[in-house]
Amino acid sequence: MAKRIITTDETEEDIRLDPGLRPQTLDDYIGQEKAKNTLRIFIEAARQRKDPLDHVLFYGPPGLGKTTLAGIIANEMDVNLKVTSGPAIEKPGEMAAVLNNLQEGDVLFVDEIHRLNRQVEEVLYPAMEDFAIDIMIGKGAAARSVRLDLPRFTLIGATTRAGLLTAPLRDRFGVVQHLEFYTEKELQTIIIRSASVLGVKIDTRGALEIARRSRGTPRLANRLLKRVRDYAQVRYDGRITSEVSSEALDLLEVDRYGLEPLDRRILETIIVKFSGGPVGLDTLAASIGEDSGTIEDVYEPYLIKKGFVNRTPKGRVASGLAYKHLGLEG
Ligand code: ADE
Repeated sequence: MAKRIITTDETEEDIRLDPGLRPQTLDDYIGQEKAKNTLRIFIEAARQRKDPLDHVLFYGPPGLGKTTLAGIIANEMDVNLKVTSGPAIEKPGEMAAVLNNLQEGDVLFVDEIHRLNRQVEEVLYPAMEDFAIDIMIGKGAAARSVRLDLPRFTLIGATTRAGLLTAPLRDRFGVVQHLEFYTEKELQTIIIRSASVLGVKIDTRGALEIARRSRGTPRLANRLLKRVRDYAQVRYDGRITSEVSSEALDLLEVDRYGLEPLDRRILETIIVKFSGGPVGLDTLAASIGEDSGTIEDVYEPYLIKKGFVNRTPKGRVASGLAYKHLGLEG
C-alpha cells in the first residue's frame, strides 16, 4: 500500500472510488504489458539506487489506467501519493505549496497536466530538473529571486495526447508511456476480477459480453458491470450470464460494438449531414453540439481504432463499416 494518499481536488473521488477495484501492484494489474514491463525495470533500478523514480508521463484516452498506475508506482516505491489535476492549480504559489509539502521520494500525480496554465507550468521546470523552486521576494526594484530546495520527488503526469503538452514540459519527463486500449480478453479478466471483489456472480460468457461492449476501457467495463449487476439483481437471480449482460446493455443503449448514443450520432452526422465526409472536426462538433476537444479525445480514438471513422487531411470520413453498422446506404 502507498503510505498515504493525499488529494487536493475532485480527483479525490476518482482515486478513492471503489479502492478494491483498483489493483495495488503491477502483478495484479491486467493488460498494458509494455508499460508494465518498462515500469518494472525502472522501479527496480530506482529502488536499488535508493533514488526516486524519474518523472513519468502517461498519455492515452481516458479510463485506461493512468491514475491506477500512478497509485501502483507509489505503492511499489513505498512512498506517499499526492493527487491533483491541471485545472485545480491556478496560481504559481499553489503549485509551489504543493511541491514544498512533498516528502522525499513522494509521487505527485497531476491529472490533465496539459491544462496547467503557463505560469504554473513554469514552476515545474526547475522543480522537475533540479528539485528546486524560484520564489520572488519583495516588489519593484527590491524584488529578488530566492531558490528553495525541494525534496526529490517523482512527477507523474497524465494527459490524453502527448501533443497537448508544451515541448519544455514534455522534454522533462524521463519516461513517456502511451497507454493502449485493452483487448476483449483482458477486459474479460478485469471484469471477472472486479465481480469477485464486488461479490457478484458472473460466468465467463457474461463477462465477455460486457467486455465486448466496453470500448477497450476498464473504467467503462467496471461501470457497465455494476449496471448489469443491478439488472441481474432486479430482473433475475443476481447471476450475470451472457443473456443477462446482453439484455441489460441493450437497455443501456450500449450496442454490440460498445457504441453509445453519442458515438452513433457522430457517425450518423458525418454520413447524413456531410455525405460521409470529409468534415472538419469543428464543423462536426458544432453540428452535434459537443465540445470538439471531447470528441477528439474521448469519442474519436475508439471510433478510429475500430475502423468506423478515418482521419484524413481534409477531415473526418465515415467508413463502410459505419454505414453498415447504422444500416444506412453508402
Ligand atoms: N481495474 C481497473 N483496471 C484494472 C486493470 N488494468 N487490472 C486489474 N484491475 C483493474
